[in-house]
Amino acid sequence: MQIVRTISQLNNLINAVKKEGKTVGFVPTMGYLHEGHISLVEEAKKHDDFIVMSIFVNPLQFGPNEDFELYPRDLKRDEKLAKMANVDVIFYPDVQEMYQKDLTCTVHVQKGVNALCGKSRPGHFDGVATVVLKLFNIVQPTRAYFGMKDAQQVAVIENLIADFNVPVQLMKCKTLREEDGLARSSRNVYLTNVERQQAPEIYRSLKQAVENIEAGEKSTSKLKEEMISHLSLTTTGEVDYVEILSYPSLDEISAIEGQVIIAIALKFSKARLIDNVTITV
Ligand code: PAF
Repeated sequence: MQIVRTISQLNNLINAVKKEGKTVGFVPTMGYLHEGHISLVEEAKKHDDFIVMSIFVNPLQFGPNEDFELYPRDLKRDEKLAKMANVDVIFYPDVQEMYQKDLTCTVHVQKGVNALCGKSRPGHFDGVATVVLKLFNIVQPTRAYFGMKDAQQVAVIENLIADFNVPVQLMKCKTLREEDGLARSSRNVYLTNVERQQAPEIYRSLKQAVENIEAGEKSTSKLKEEMISHLSLTTTGEVDYVEILSYPSLDEISAIEGQVIIAIALKFSKARLIDNVTITV
């Protein structure tokens, strides 16, 4: 496995790989790798010949109250994990390499940002879309792999690819779950024992909503009411949001139609957990 720090070195490598007729799978990350990232690499290995992982903590997607400097970084640890997962190249540029001069253009995401977690992170998705578009242009991957745990980010990128005709195939990868259905997250360790027992109710409530939709329920307000009441009866968590939106446009809808996302954010004493499912009717 190689670690490449410059765009020109990476371009040479990718050109050589493509000349051999190989496909390139791309897993963008901000490092501090966890099993979610590794599962994206595993998925990429199923489809692509050559796997590029980027590790870049992108200053553009941090708000003024979110500490870019304090974001965890550990290249040695990431290097070991990526090597074990059979990544071919880590692209590890510094901020100067990615943003050589002040940008004259950035991507402004117009739709889908005032919903779900985007509400509390103004400007975040502009930063994500800008860096992802740059990374797509630098890596020129055949396929790019993103986890559906962060469904809003996937929606933003799906729309970005369509809006700018980016020649890449978006691979939406399933959320990893514990046996009881709880979505895996590094935040789960902050749950008390009681909260850990209650937390699977988040996924149960999402699955119940899917069953209700499949049984013919169309009203999003009725579905949301049922989910909120399920969560308040079965957990001590505070509902941050329960939303049902069109996907990937993330518009509010009153009746279920086409592809929709059902999403929950629930605040426990020390952890705010998010989860979602998408369903097409
Ligand atoms: O999901 C992340 O880790 C980041 O938002 C991404 C996609 C690597 C862009 O910086």
